[in-house]
Amino acid sequence: MDASHSFTVTTPRITYGPGSLALVGDIARRLGMRRPLLVTDRHLETLPPVRTVKRALEEAGLVVTVFAEVAIEPTDRSFREAIRFAGDGGFDGFVSVGGGSVMDTAKVADLYSTWPEEFMAYVNAPIGEGRNVPGPLRPHVACPTTCGTGSECTGIAIFDLLAMKAKTGIMSHHLVPDHAVIDPEATASLPRTALACTALDTVCHALEAWTCRPVSERELPREPDLRPMTQGANPWSDLMALEPIRLVAANLEAALADPPDMAARGRLLWAATLAGASFGNAGCHLPHALSYPVSGMVREYRPADYPPGPPLVPHGMAVILNAPPVYRAMEARAGPRLLEAARALGADTEGVDPREGGPLVADRLIRLMRMAGVPNGLEAIGFSAVDIAALTEGALPQRRLLDNAPVAITAEVLDGLYRAAMRYW
Ligand SMILES: [Fe+2]
Repeated sequence: MDASHSFTVTTPRITYGPGSLALVGDIARRLGMRRPLLVTDRHLETLPPVRTVKRALEEAGLVVTVFAEVAIEPTDRSFREAIRFAGDGGFDGFVSVGGGSVMDTAKVADLYSTWPEEFMAYVNAPIGEGRNVPGPLRPHVACPTTCGTGSECTGIAIFDLLAMKAKTGIMSHHLVPDHAVIDPEATASLPRTALACTALDTVCHALEAWTCRPVSERELPREPDLRPMTQGANPWSDLMALEPIRLVAANLEAALADPPDMAARGRLLWAATLAGASFGNAGCHLPHALSYPVSGMVREYRPADYPPGPPLVPHGMAVILNAPPVYRAMEARAGPRLLEAARALGADTEGVDPREGGPLVADRLIRLMRMAGVPNGLEAIGFSAVDIAALTEGALPQRRLLDNAPVAITAEVLDGLYRAAMRYW
C-alpha cells in the first residue's frame, strides 16, 4: 500500500480557560525547566499577562530571564538578536507571552540555540536552504495574547527577510510548542485594530485550511518527518475549520465593543486555537501568499491606534485585504465547500446553487471587514495598479503556499487577484 497520501497530525498539549496563565510555572517545571527564557515584547513587558506568568514561574522555583526585544512583524535581524541572546544564556526552556511575533521568535531562538546553523539553513526554500530540523528542541510553553495567529499550535515561524523585502518562514513539526496555555483574560488590553486584524487572520487560516488542495492530491515524501506542515486538507484539519469561522463571524462585533465583551474575546481566542490546529496541519494558500509582498512593500501606512514606529501593515490586515477575490475566483468544484463556509460566515444558503458559494464567501468577508473597520482594499493602504507587477513577483516565490492552492497558479492569475483587491466598496 502506498503511504504517500497518509497524513500526520501534530499539536501541542493545550490548556484553555480564564486564569490559566497562573498555571504556567507548574507546567514549565514539569517540562524540566529550571532556567527558562521568558520571551515577550516591550509593550507587553509591563502588562498583566507577562507579570502573571513571571510570578508563576518564580513561585514554581524557576530562575527567569526576560527577553523583551521582539519586533512586531519580526525580521531576520530581530530573530538573530533573539538567537544570540538565547545562545549566550544557558537556558533550558522557553516561555513566550505575546502574539505571533513573540511566539515565532521564541520558536526560532529555541531552534538555533539547540541546533546551531547559519541563519538561512532552516529558512524555507527557495529563499533559504530549507534544511530539515535534526531533532527535538528544548521545551517551549506558548501563551497567546492576541486572537489570531494560532502560532501556539503550529510549527511555523514567519519573518521579513530585510535584504529581499520578502516575508518567508521556517517550519518543522519540531517547532510546535510543547504546551499552549490559552487564557482569555490575556486579551483584555488588546487594542481594537490588533484585535480585528488577528481575528480576521483566524478566519483566513480556517478558510484556507478548509479550501486548500486535499492531501490526496499532493505529492509528498512518505516519511512523516520529511513531510511539510503544509500537507493539504485532511480529515483532521477539516474537523477544526468551520467552527472558528462561525465563532469569529458571530463574536467579532461584541469583542470589538467598548467596553469589550470578554466572553466574546474568549470565543475568538478559542477560534484562533482551533484554526491554528487546522491550518498548522493542512497549510494556508493564496490569501497568505498574496499578503506577504503587501506587508513587505509597505511605504507609509501604519494603523491609527498602533504605537509610533515604522510603516507597517499588520499581518491579518494584509491577508484579509487579499482574500475576497480568491474565493470569488475559485473553481466550481469547490462550490459545496464554499457554500458551507458561507453558512459558517452567517449567510443564508437555503436553496443557493453551490456555484454561488465563492461569491457568497467573498461578500460575507467584505461585510466582516467593513464592520471591523479594515481599510477599503490595497488602494487604501497606499498601493496602486503600478505596483501590481512587483507584488506579483514577490508572491511567486511563496512556493509552499502556492503549491497548496486549489487552483493552478501563474503570474497572470496572481496579477488578476491583486487587481481585484484594490478596492471593495
Ligand atoms: Fe496568518
